[in-house]
Amino acid sequence: MEKMTFHPREHLYTPREAEIISVSDLTPVEKIFTLRMKDDSPLGHLPGQFVQLSILGFAEAPMSVASSPTRKSCFDLAIRRAGTLTAEMHGKVPGDTVGIRGPFGSSFELSALQGHDLLLISGGCGLAPLRSLIQYCADCPDEFGRVEIIYGARNPDALLFKKDLADWRSSSGFGCSVTVDTVRGGEGRGGECFEGPVGLITALIPPLVPDPARTMAVVVGPPPMYRAVIEELKRKGIVASRIYLSLERNMRCGVGKCGHCTIEHLYCCTDGPVFRLDRIEGVRGAI
Ligand SMILES: Cc1cc2nc3c(=O)[nH]c(=O)nc-3n(C[C@H](O)[C@H](O)[C@H](O)COP(=O)(O)OP(=O)(O)OC[C@H]3O[C@@H](n4cnc5c(N)ncnc54)[C@H](O)[C@@H]3O)c2cc1C
Ligand code: FES
Repeated sequence: MEKMTFHPREHLYTPREAEIISVSDLTPVEKIFTLRMKDDSPLGHLPGQFVQLSILGFAEAPMSVASSPTRKSCFDLAIRRAGTLTAEMHGKVPGDTVGIRGPFGSSFELSALQGHDLLLISGGCGLAPLRSLIQYCADCPDEFGRVEIIYGARNPDALLFKKDLADWRSSSGFGCSVTVDTVRGGEGRGGECFEGPVGLITALIPPLVPDPARTMAVVVGPPPMYRAVIEELKRKGIVASRIYLSLERNMRCGVGKCGHCTIEHLYCCTDGPVFRLDRIEGVRGAI
């Protein structure tokens, strides 16, 4: 997996100050924050990496970077209100300052993905880290073959990045299919109708794999999604060495010191969060 090769020591342990540039609602419980380092330095991440977000007086939490490193001056975090830190973050407004450590962890291996057709599959919040890779593909279209995006959410209200999904759907470089598990009376938030398919995300995979030997798959989503999606991808002829996953574990330090994120002998924060499937298939508790 590609990792950052250069980490000034202070970036490992000491948060850098970042200013919130804009905030907007994605869903009733998720907001997107655009941030800029106060010293104007780029974040220096690769798609798939995460940062440790902190607010003075509150704890830290890992957050995936939701924008591409090609969009240099700012970066996005999509944050679900889950507990103490994220509730505090949801009260922040443009101009406020937060702490950022990182970027940390492995990334989606760009050198392995380049030159291939891509199948980018995400469920729920998994679209946040994948958006970084999708934006990268949009900004560097010559580096990739056909890019197919498949996204699933519980219901229309829970769909993240609705504007991006519409843009990707209308872009000639991408295929983009969206499904939801359920709809309430066919109505989404604000009276919008959801016109896409209703059902499991795996149902969207079959028609989309014209050449498995030229295809690389990236899967990010809630744990129950992985088994079903991996099974379906393998049925379509995509072997484990062509499938990348991003895993989440409870994390503290983010830099391989505290042991909170272990998966057998692996540290999710430094060996992951992005893993190639054939390298973790035999690891107990990984998926
Ligand atoms: C690599 C990585 C990337 C992440 N990216 C994002 C992101 O882009 N956006 C986002 O909203 N969240 C993300 N998370 C999850 C986020 O870090 C947790 O939800 C975090 O605990 C929230 O902090 P809090 O203080 O608000 O909640 P807390 O008060 O810590 O707890 C909220 C609840 O979430 C549980 N929890 C804590 N850590 C995790 C975890 N890693 N996974 C699942 N449940 C957890 C706690 O046990 C508790 O039940 C990511 C986690 C990891 C490991
Ligand atoms: S979070 Fe501390 S070792 Fe991974």
